[in-house]
This record gives sequence, structure tokens and C-alpha cells, in this order.
Amino acid sequence: MPTITFTQPTGEATEVTVEEGTSLMRAAVTNGIEGIVGECGGQAMCATCHVFVRPEFAGQLPEVSDDEDEMLDCTTAERTDSSRLGCQIKMSGELGNIVVDVPSDQV
Ligand code: FES
Repeated sequence: MPTITFTQPTGEATEVTVEEGTSLMRAAVTNGIEGIVGECGGQAMCATCHVFVRPEFAGQLPEVSDDEDEMLDCTTAERTDSSRLGCQIKMSGELGNIVVDVPSDQV
């Protein structure tokens, strides 16, 4: 099963294992990862699931959709080239062991 490592701004890292098809946001919320809120439930309408994907994994993700792109302009922490919405990342075997950084501010 795929694993996700969430790294906090403090450097503390938490690894969670999830079923394929689970979104990165849902994995975070279910496992109590601090700093990932998921207020809209995964509809790409709140940007409280903002994460920074480590560059080595960025190429394995689907392109940013127009809806995601629009919401990424509304993140509390400044958007970077690594920014993605966790709810739009569905975990799969190919993505196994992805590492993301949690922003210092989310709401
Ligand atoms: S959970 Fe709201 S945009 Fe991802």
C-alpha cells in the first residue's frame, strides 16, 4: 500500500499508509496530521489542504486542473512551484512513499 510522509515546518515527519485511491488530504485528516484541514471535504473549494510536494515526486502527479490552479491562488501560505491541493492527489502504487511538506499556515 502507498505511504505518505508529512513533514511539518518543525521538521517532524509522520508516515502514514493508505489504501490506493485515498486522497492525500483524506489520509492526513484521518490520521490527525496537524496543519491539513480539508474544510470543503475535497471539492477543490477551500485550499486548506495545501501541501508542498517534494520535487522528486512532482513529475509523478497528474497536471494541475483549472479548478486546482484557481484555488492554489487562494492559499494562506504563499504558493510555490511545489504547491498542490492534497485533495486532488489520489494515492496509487506509482506514488508510493511520496513526501510532502505541510505549510506553516493553512487558514
Ligand atoms: S479539501 Fe478543500 S480544496 Fe482540498
